[in-house]
Amino acid sequence: MRFDLVTLFPEMFESVLGSSILRRAAEAVANPADASEIRDAVVSYHLHNPRDYTDSKHNKVDDTPYGGGPGMVIQCQPVYDCVLAAEAELPGMEATRIAVTPTGRPLTQELVEELAQKPRLLVLCGHYEGFDQRILDELAPIEVSLGDYVLTGGELPAMVLIDCVVRLLPGVIGKAGSHDRDSFSPGLDRLLDHPHYTRPPEWRGRAVPDVLLSGDHQKIEAWRRERSVELTKERRPDLLATTLRVAGALGDASSTEIGGPASRSDAAMPIIAIRDAADSDHDAIDALLRSAFDTDAEAKLVRNLRDQGDAPIELVAEVDSAAEQPRVIGHILFSPVTIEGGDGRLRPLGLAPLAVDPAFRRRGIGRALVRQGLRVCEDARAGAVFVLGEPAYYGPLGFETASKHGFSNPFGVDEPFQVRLLRPLTGPAGMVQFAPAFDGL
Ligand code: ADE
Repeated sequence: MRFDLVTLFPEMFESVLGSSILRRAAEAVANPADASEIRDAVVSYHLHNPRDYTDSKHNKVDDTPYGGGPGMVIQCQPVYDCVLAAEAELPGMEATRIAVTPTGRPLTQELVEELAQKPRLLVLCGHYEGFDQRILDELAPIEVSLGDYVLTGGELPAMVLIDCVVRLLPGVIGKAGSHDRDSFSPGLDRLLDHPHYTRPPEWRGRAVPDVLLSGDHQKIEAWRRERSVELTKERRPDLLATTLRVAGALGDASSTEIGGPASRSDAAMPIIAIRDAADSDHDAIDALLRSAFDTDAEAKLVRNLRDQGDAPIELVAEVDSAAEQPRVIGHILFSPVTIEGGDGRLRPLGLAPLAVDPAFRRRGIGRALVRQGLRVCEDARAGAVFVLGEPAYYGPLGFETASKHGFSNPFGVDEPFQVRLLRPLTGPAGMVQFAPAFDGL
């Protein structure tokens, strides 16, 4: 991955990028097993200073704000020319532009995971009162904030962002998949991590919880999960929130907005509430499914599944804005499936369908529905959730290839068939059968 960093203070990056893991990631290393083999550097860092591009005689890059007020505003020309020059150093590789600013969307692990997939990130660091708005309008970066506090500039936030992204890149730390148990990661359902203990078993009268010494992996898993949920409820109830605020002009499906529970209280952002579906929602759900899919097969499927009497778990997302009546704009359904060859101890559910009104897409509402749905399934003591869907979408939500756990499906091996285990797997796996109506879809 290539980082292009646009900053008026490049010297601030020297010690952070030149030390420890961030430094090692930028070095080619010899394979310890075969000294003749050199592994390429995982990342490269490129610093660019807008001051080197200013047209002004005195190297000025900022000026006083129109309309008055304190501080200085960074001018358009030096930043714009600097960004174009930085990008032109490698024209064949498109850069994802990011501006770090306190008015951006929150930097979350989910956003970090998304950025870690990109080949090249260009990070614009603001200073003083920030950028002339026209820089942001012209370059259209993803605007990212570190939190609800103000720093003197964007350099420290940029370094934090680089650190979070680089540690996720393959070969930088640990084994593949070792990030799955970080706080906020999909493997922990985006919750806080549980407490950790190591030797000795007792220290200053404080004992390690017995269950961790028991050797019973299932009990240990259950204990860790309970501690995670407990800690999250106590310290970060927002991570369990069933409401979220979404930004961006509604109807702009090309928005790159990343959703998730937001702490901002900007009244211009509509509130989306996620709740259990009621019988009175059925007509609205029907209309939503017809507008969200090309066929009406999904609407029929949902009606069939309800009629079969095997009460599915159904949630809706409802938009609540000052401008209109509450309206259903998202829906998710989980219905029981059977496993042929299993021993009946795993209570499985199939996820289908997931629908979001086209005008509200790309804001994380679908992901919030899946996440909340998984919690409801877990409370209902479901053992696993199966889905036929895009691994790139469901992977960050904790789904894995089902065959890895011994599950096959009746649709053939080419279908992206995935499972999210909600409890440790006991007993044999087997062939997963969806409801007959689903097979006919
Ligand atoms: N620049 C100043 N404060 C910031 C913050 N909280 N996040 C990102 N960039 C910033």
